[in-house]
Amino acid sequence: SRTLDLAVIPGDGIGQEVVAQGLKVLQAVLPGEVKLETREYDLGARRWHRTGETLPDTELAELAEHDAILLGAIGDPTVPSGVLERGLLLRLRFAFDHFVNLRPSRLYPNTTGPLAGNPEIDFVVVREGTEGPYTGNGGSLRTGTPAEVATEVSLNTAYGVERVVRDAFARAQARPRRKLTLVHKTNVLVHAGGLWKSTFDKVAAEYPEVTTDYLHVDAATIFFVTQPERFDVIVTDNLFGDILTDLAAAVTGGIGLAASGNINPTGAFPSMFEPVHGSAPDIAGQGKADPTATVLSVALLLRHLGHDTEAARIEEAVTADLAARDGSPRTTEQIGAALAARVTA
Ligand code: IPM
Ligand code: MN
Repeated sequence: SRTLDLAVIPGDGIGQEVVAQGLKVLQAVLPGEVKLETREYDLGARRWHRTGETLPDTELAELAEHDAILLGAIGDPTVPSGVLERGLLLRLRFAFDHFVNLRPSRLYPNTTGPLAGNPEIDFVVVREGTEGPYTGNGGSLRTGTPAEVATEVSLNTAYGVERVVRDAFARAQARPRRKLTLVHKTNVLVHAGGLWKSTFDKVAAEYPEVTTDYLHVDAATIFFVTQPERFDVIVTDNLFGDILTDLAAAVTGGIGLAASGNINPTGAFPSMFEPVHGSAPDIAGQGKADPTATVLSVALLLRHLGHDTEAARIEEAVTADLAARDGSPRTTEQIGAALAARVTA
């Protein structure tokens, strides 16, 4: 019998609550012959307060041995901004070379928001995950003086851009509409934008069946709201992708439904799956958080590991669950239980 050896990082705030439901649904959907083994890692704000550690090298090495990682949320107002984001979340993405940050958007039934009722929204953002302005390639001079200078230089390598662009073309080729849109800001960021555009055009020549398009990021935000059905696969840099995927979540039913995968397609290191939302300390511990984004992240995890049937079962369960909603409030636990029941039905 096979084993799914999963590392679990519940993290901070609502992370604990949503991960519990994600695991419940995972356990329910897994075929009998696959044995789920989980190991929980105590990382995040509490750990940092207790020991001052964000992610010790020993634990990073242990995490590397699992088949995949499920993460809840990282961040807490009691920890200085950037400590956990850089020291834990981004450290994991960089150390495990998660160069594909996969963020699908679909308009589910019964969702509210500006685009409710538009059935044609089904796109996926392939956000670069290891470069751009996220690398810490910057510095400050004359800090705290009126002459302070700060830089945060966007790092773009031919190697890094090409591998994520290739991944996006392959994903577009495998989808029915076969359309790929590059989003950047080539009219201003001529150096980085030039590398992205020339790489995109070069790889496009190998995919004659994929229709290509280019949008400046500011224009893309307009089309996300006014014409979201024009998108199929989008490839973009780390920071543009961060911003665009929050917008995508907001217009397609809310951040409570947005799933993501930090993927290393080579398999050299485990991929990591997490809801796009944060730790929401304002509602933590109250059973109010919607675990659906985490459950959908579990579906991405299953698909990444080749369990396509089970991934689809989860996505169908979420669709059915949302369609059946009557507007009365449900607890985190109740939503998780309802989804677990649907995947086993
Ligand atoms: C996300 C988050 C992170 C990011 C933060 C917490 C570092 O906003 O996963 O989108 O910017 O990537
Ligand atoms: Mn973000």
